[in-house]
Amino acid sequence: MEKSLHALITSVFFFFLQFTSQCYASKDESYSRPPARNLIFTAHHGLESEAQQVHVSLVGRDHMRVTWITDDKHAPSTVEYGKQPGTYNAMATGDHTSYRYFFYSSGKIHHVKIGPLEPGTTYYYRCGGSGPELSFKTPPATLPLEFVVIGDLGQTEWTNSTLAHVNSRDYDVLLLPGDLSYADTHQPLWDSFGRLVEKYASQRPWMVTEGNHETEIFPIIQPHGFKAYNARWLMPYEESNSSSNLYYSFNVVGTHVIMLGSYTDFDEHSQQYKWLEADLGSIDRKKTPWVIVLLHAPWYNTNNAHQGEGESMRKAMEELLYKARVDVVFAGHVHAYERFARIYDNKLDPCGPMYITVGDGGNREGLALTFKNPASPLSLYREASFGHGRLRIMDETRAHWLWQRNNDSNSFSADEVWLDSLSTSTACWAIDDEKEPPKFIDNDEL
Ligand SMILES: *[C@@H]1O[C@H](CO)[C@@H](O)[C@H](O)[C@H]1NC(C)=O
Ligand SMILES: *[C@@H]1O[C@H](CO)[C@@H](O)[C@H](O)[C@H]1NC(C)=O
Ligand SMILES: *[C@@H]1O[C@H](CO)[C@@H](O)[C@H](O)[C@H]1NC(C)=O
Ligand SMILES: [Fe+2]
Repeated sequence: MEKSLHALITSVFFFFLQFTSQCYASKDESYSRPPARNLIFTAHHGLESEAQQVHVSLVGRDHMRVTWITDDKHAPSTVEYGKQPGTYNAMATGDHTSYRYFFYSSGKIHHVKIGPLEPGTTYYYRCGGSGPELSFKTPPATLPLEFVVIGDLGQTEWTNSTLAHVNSRDYDVLLLPGDLSYADTHQPLWDSFGRLVEKYASQRPWMVTEGNHETEIFPIIQPHGFKAYNARWLMPYEESNSSSNLYYSFNVVGTHVIMLGSYTDFDEHSQQYKWLEADLGSIDRKKTPWVIVLLHAPWYNTNNAHQGEGESMRKAMEELLYKARVDVVFAGHVHAYERFARIYDNKLDPCGPMYITVGDGGNREGLALTFKNPASPLSLYREASFGHGRLRIMDETRAHWLWQRNNDSNSFSADEVWLDSLSTSTACWAIDDEKEPPKFIDNDEL
């Protein structure tokens, strides 16, 4: 009797706890959280030689890498391109790879670097000497520049809806902080994902870094992981002096973007750490006043999901980013949206990066619905909904961040904020690294 009463009280208590924290999770309480939606499997119905899963990525200042897959192992790795539809006055040949994963054998994965290309220009192109014409637009020569930031994408009906919202307004470069296909070792889902995103990723450069769903490690047989990811989503790591596709950087008008790897070594003796130190040291803020970083497992997170998972990486690398005056750090992993203040070492700090989690692309696992209470004063906006973000770099000093919530088939601007680049803050640069850091306004005073 006493036992069941105790059980009743406990379950009522947990019901209330969950109820109150779920209410808190939403700033817009009139909006009810949607459940996860069905997986979309996108099949290929064309010829074996036909290019599928086409996507483009930035390589160096004025080149683009075109990646696609053919089932036909003899299809050529060539791209024809030009500025007029149907007229290809340039052609490039690249290389190809393929991989095996247990009983799965991938198609021929082609990587072709094309250029030099003019900025802000639409190019028409064709892969493998035949097939349909595609087009992409190169980033502009001068600011403004618009990034779409979208994490934990997956391939569900929500993914489809998020991508439709992304495409409803122009942008220049898409940044993805990890967890792409959610294939989770089931390799045909990598192909399906490639086909689902082709419509978008063949039109604008998609720059990605890895999440936990890319690892696909299997003891003894696949000990190092990332086999499919590295073969299919080759990023310009060699061009940024990195020795691994799991972390790299690139410049795009006025902005230095650093893609870090949450699922490879990051301690102070690691290759990644040394590379990051050198990369940060080589940034010229006169050329790229904006510096943004992406990684998968967030360093700051007040959601109940994935607590503490980014903590060892934060402890290892946060000081490097802080001293380099990084403007924003984007993360995924937590399937919700959360925007923080500028932070360094768990305290408000006007010279630290702003932290934003956008793990809300629409994957099959659904939303991370509950946040920790009471709210941390560092967390300025948090909401468990699917959606995507847009960072518009207006000029050398100002940028605008906008988070668009998926309201079913509509897209709704739910959170926005203006940012000043730290490159122009004299207070933040009047610091001699050899001396004590200045006394910033501390937590209690704000
Ligand atoms: C995906 O979205 C497109 C519109 O962007 C729509 O035409 C298509 O039917 C959708 N597919 C599925 C399976 O929902
Ligand atoms: C890469 O390293 C080489 C030699 O150390 C250097 O000349 C070059 O500027 C570096 N490139 C980048 C993008 O850091
Ligand atoms: C959300 O969508 C519903 C149904 O389409 C619509 O009635 C409502 O006005 C939308 N709300 C917002 C904030 O866009
Ligand atoms: Fe993840």
